Amino acid sequence: MRVLVACEYSGAVRDEFIKLQHDAMSCDLLPTDVPGPHYQGDVFDIINDGWDLMIAHPPCTYISRAGARWMYQNNNVNQERLIKALDAKDFFMKLYNADIEKIALENPTPLQILKMPLPSQAIEPFQFGHPFSKRTLLWLKNLPLLKPTNILNQYTPFLPSNTGGAKRGEKTHRGTAKNWKESSTTFKGIAKAMADQWSKPGLIQGKLL
Ligand SMILES: C[S@@+](CC[C@H](N)C(=O)[O-])C[C@H]1O[C@@H](n2cnc3c(N)ncnc32)[C@H](O)[C@@H]1O
Repeated sequence: MRVLVACEYSGAVRDEFIKLQHDAMSCDLLPTDVPGPHYQGDVFDIINDGWDLMIAHPPCTYISRAGARWMYQNNNVNQERLIKALDAKDFFMKLYNADIEKIALENPTPLQILKMPLPSQAIEPFQFGHPFSKRTLLWLKNLPLLKPTNILNQYTPFLPSNTGGAKRGEKTHRGTAKNWKESSTTFKGIAKAMADQWSKPGLIQGKLL
């Protein structure tokens, strides 16, 4: 199977598909952290090169609901921020509407104001053997829902939460991730589940292939 892993510098998903003998390539504006097939540049340069499956991790900085306190100031929408968020949505939608049979897009919960399409499911790292919470949504086309592989009952937040609430004496969490790269790198357990479950025929949204 020819697999494009778009917006990936870590090689995490790419290398799990390669382990299963697939022809997988990552693509990012950044170089790959781990040597392997990688296109450094704009994903739209190569998106029409005949892929069977695309898994994409588009940037979420302006889309994520976690950025709501920058979008709304004194109950008004920050217009500069809204323009950036609509650009990010446009990028996401171009990936979503790509001419590729099987597509998975991954992002956190988006701001409601953006009216993103409804996701197919929500997953957490602690469902795939990592002791962390980081709610992640998947938008799937012609792919089955990702099944948890190893559910842990004890976990801590991976990302900081409610950082703005510290001044108001509210409960906050510093998160576990040390820097932006660590916070956006795909967890190994999730990458492995994607390769294991999406590279073989099976149930697609209730229908047997
Ligand atoms: C949230 S990070 C995803 C990281 C990924 N989970 C990983 O493990 O490498 C989003 C990535 O999208 C990349 N990106 C942004 N615009 C892009 C474009 N036009 N073409 C390819 N990659 C792009 C960024 O450089 C960034 O590394």
